[in-house]
Amino acid sequence: MARLAIRGGKPVREVKKRPWPVWPVFNQREEKQLLQVVRSRVWSYNGPKEQEFNRRFKAFVGAGYALLVANGTISLQLALEALDIGFGDEVILPGLTWQATAGAVLDVNAVPILVDVDPNTWCLDPEEVEKAITPRTRAIIPVHLYGCIADMDAVHRLARKHKLFVIEDCAHQHGSIWNGKQVGSLGDIGSFSLQLSKVLTAGEGGILTTSDANLFTRLDALRNCGRRPAPKLLGKADKGAGQYGVEGDLIQSGNYRITEFQAAVLLEQLRRLPAQVRLRDRNAIYLNARLAQIPGIYPMKRDSRTDLQSYFNFAFRYDARKFKGLPVARFREALNAELCLGAGGVEACYQPLNDCSLYRPLTKKRYRLSEKHWRRINPARFQLPECEQAYRETSVCMHHRILLANHQDMDQIADAVEKIRENLDEII
Ligand SMILES: Cc1ncc(COP(=O)(O)O)c(C=O)c1O
Repeated sequence: MARLAIRGGKPVREVKKRPWPVWPVFNQREEKQLLQVVRSRVWSYNGPKEQEFNRRFKAFVGAGYALLVANGTISLQLALEALDIGFGDEVILPGLTWQATAGAVLDVNAVPILVDVDPNTWCLDPEEVEKAITPRTRAIIPVHLYGCIADMDAVHRLARKHKLFVIEDCAHQHGSIWNGKQVGSLGDIGSFSLQLSKVLTAGEGGILTTSDANLFTRLDALRNCGRRPAPKLLGKADKGAGQYGVEGDLIQSGNYRITEFQAAVLLEQLRRLPAQVRLRDRNAIYLNARLAQIPGIYPMKRDSRTDLQSYFNFAFRYDARKFKGLPVARFREALNAELCLGAGGVEACYQPLNDCSLYRPLTKKRYRLSEKHWRRINPARFQLPECEQAYRETSVCMHHRILLANHQDMDQIADAVEKIRENLDEII
């Protein structure tokens, strides 16, 4: 009789008896907020809920300004445009990230320079960043991936030394705290996604954060067809930093605004966020301690400068050699079967961007600005061995909703890994 669920045995998690937490979380508070917006007829454009959210989010992050925008791809594009980055410029980013981080760089006609990651965190490796810096480099985009914060101290040292801008891609990490400061307040500009899978969500949406009044003025104009921000959106200390309607300051742009419906939902989601982040972090610490006891399983590194860790995915590393050669893809299937997480419940990390099916710059004529540029944006020219090893051999990733459960549930995840290890002969 098979014991492993993938072979027809009884799963560790009997999901009918004990379902996993669902995502997103909502109740009548979100419903009430949405009804208020419907009835107000203010469905968009700097409405009261949008302004309140921006005020609350900047206070939450500890930045001077926050600005809701259409999504977390556009937020990166606007950040690059606000910093006047474009044709002829290079921007360094990790090879292991969602395609949008590089796509935004392409869309401003700059060249994405892909660098390898630290295998312990899957965030960009500062030594690789330093090697990639050229006279054309204008910015670094550290991505705080899944459940690790990029080494922001090292990124800042390099940025200062080479006079580069830092745009934090915080799409995965609303609420993480590094050395006493929240992510999104650590660079020149912070960029967040609010897409449905993210830990702060309105279905779609994005947020920009900055503490520089001039950058805020540009960002606000860029998300709103080039219009200057209304003076009331700028603080008293910022007088002159973006005078309303000053002709010389105008900047070409389009409509990248968010709706008031999204802002309304976000006000309630932001209220829930701090407790959810703390709960996920407590559960992840507990689960990692259990997983660390299992031969061949390696939790991601938690840097001592991490004060609070937010999780988009819960990830760990797997070594097939300690599992009698069981390929990681088969291990993920077996784990999913034990935990009854459903389709896509246990996944690999992102495909490295040097060969990613959703990052194909050479398929778009608009990027063929010159033959030289065309060659330079070809992602296949970058070597990313650590990204490739994570994708092909070691990564095991699960949606953050599992971390909204309790310690008993975390025990089941570790028990499932142990059960697979003890019954490998059934699937090898
Ligand atoms: C690291 C990263 N950056 C940027 C984005 C883009 O965000 P959006 O989907 O809101 O456009 C995502 C979305 O998954 C992401 O994971």
